Amino acid sequence: MSDRYIEFANSDLGRRLVGAVGLPSPARLERWQAGRLRPVEGALLLSGGPLADKVGAFAGKLTDQVYSFGTFVSETQEWVAGLGPKLKAVVFDASGLADIDALSQLRVFFQPLLRSLDRGAHVVILGRAPESLGDPLASIAQRALEGFSRTLAKELRNGGTLQLLYVGDGAEDQLEGALRFFLSPKSAFISGQVLRLTACAEQVQDWTRPLGGRTALVTGAARGIGAAIAETFARDGADVVLLDVPQAKGDLDALAARLGGRSIALDICASDAASELIEQLPDGLDILVHNAGITRDKTLANMTPEFWDAVLAVNLKAPQVLTQALFDSGTLHDHARIVLLASISGIAGNRGQANYAASKAGLIGLAQVWAPRLAKRGSSIAAVAPGFIETHMTAQVPFTLREAGRRMSSLGQGGLPQDVAEAVAWLGQPGSGAVNGQVLRVCGQAIMGA
Ligand SMILES: NC(=O)c1ccc[n+]([C@@H]2O[C@H](COP(=O)([O-])OP(=O)(O)OC[C@H]3O[C@@H](n4cnc5c(N)ncnc54)[C@H](O)[C@@H]3O)[C@@H](O)[C@H]2O)c1
Repeated sequence: MSDRYIEFANSDLGRRLVGAVGLPSPARLERWQAGRLRPVEGALLLSGGPLADKVGAFAGKLTDQVYSFGTFVSETQEWVAGLGPKLKAVVFDASGLADIDALSQLRVFFQPLLRSLDRGAHVVILGRAPESLGDPLASIAQRALEGFSRTLAKELRNGGTLQLLYVGDGAEDQLEGALRFFLSPKSAFISGQVLRLTACAEQVQDWTRPLGGRTALVTGAARGIGAAIAETFARDGADVVLLDVPQAKGDLDALAARLGGRSIALDICASDAASELIEQLPDGLDILVHNAGITRDKTLANMTPEFWDAVLAVNLKAPQVLTQALFDSGTLHDHARIVLLASISGIAGNRGQANYAASKAGLIGLAQVWAPRLAKRGSSIAAVAPGFIETHMTAQVPFTLREAGRRMSSLGQGGLPQDVAEAVAWLGQPGSGAVNGQVLRVCGQAIMGA
């Protein structure tokens, strides 16, 4: 469903009116286009610091315009505020900020460049996880980065985004995969997020086909977010298996044929769903995406047992039962990646969605419980929590609630299925074992549950 307000706010007349009346002015976000090669098209600014040095070693693969500011980083040009080019991407290494006074470096670094950010600029701050540090002052300073990052993310304009990555010991070699995602339009609708990268033995071999040689199953793939995930996986080189209910077989088969994949028409809640899947996947799976989901909204006072049971069965019970069966049978290969579609409703709660929010919070629990078991086999699991995404599901939401859902976020708009799909595709990569057990919100920094 299209968001006409964004078109209006970005027209000549709309820009003047919106500015005069003080209405929200959401930017038109830049998305990844097929055929694009470089994650960053424009200038990338790097700070100094040990992690920035690691980034400097591969920054030339991200863009051909790498600049440094303040401290010299090898093979870069110096960027001077007011004179240097507009910045499309910024990486600030805050890992060395080891006490409270040192935090002023955040202001010193960022203040001069804020007016030099290009449209849709992507900023990443690198730190060390506070809980991993022995020195209490360093730990406090690193924790302070969270409040700073989430605030600066809210202050960026023109579709700018900002994330904080805490980089664990031994996880430095996963920075390239993370920055290829967070500095590019693939993460256009993600902002204000904090993730921890931990050591992961695997690496993407070919960045033009990061999922090459992997077989991926996507449930609920006939339409909406699931269809976008299947498309993105195919673009990234995966062999895709698309699953949806038998009633959706027409759309499912058509999409599978277009993507050169296979289709399985199956209700994931059927009593024989697990055995049927195991039989249909004799060569096993490398990536499993539990995307199928339903809503049956009512306040708890009006909730019928049927509504409650249906939502819990599809959204939570089926992912748990199928994950267990595919794991126990060996269908899920070692070094597998599992991605769950949670929701910000499961983080913040949402009036009228007690059943849905319980199911989605349960999925986050599922990720946390399975993470250590999977890690023993080199596998991992992570949840994506979308905010308001323009799909069939949200088209059912009443107009006023829909408008509120779209605007109450830093980016002031709903996301597209592609935005969620890009995040799932990144989490499906070999190197994304580095974010085992975590939740990534794809919500434009929605106020809900922030
Ligand atoms: N759209 C949003 O704003 C949003 C926000 C947060 C989370 N999500 C989650 O993202 C996922 C996809 O959402 P969407 O908006 O694309 O929904 P959608 O309704 O457009 O698509 C869901 C798909 O799942 C399939 N499905 C439902 N029950 C099934 C079953 N028992 N077996 C097999 N397939 C089944 C449906 O047939 C459908 O094709 C869901 O888990 C949803 O909860 C969506």
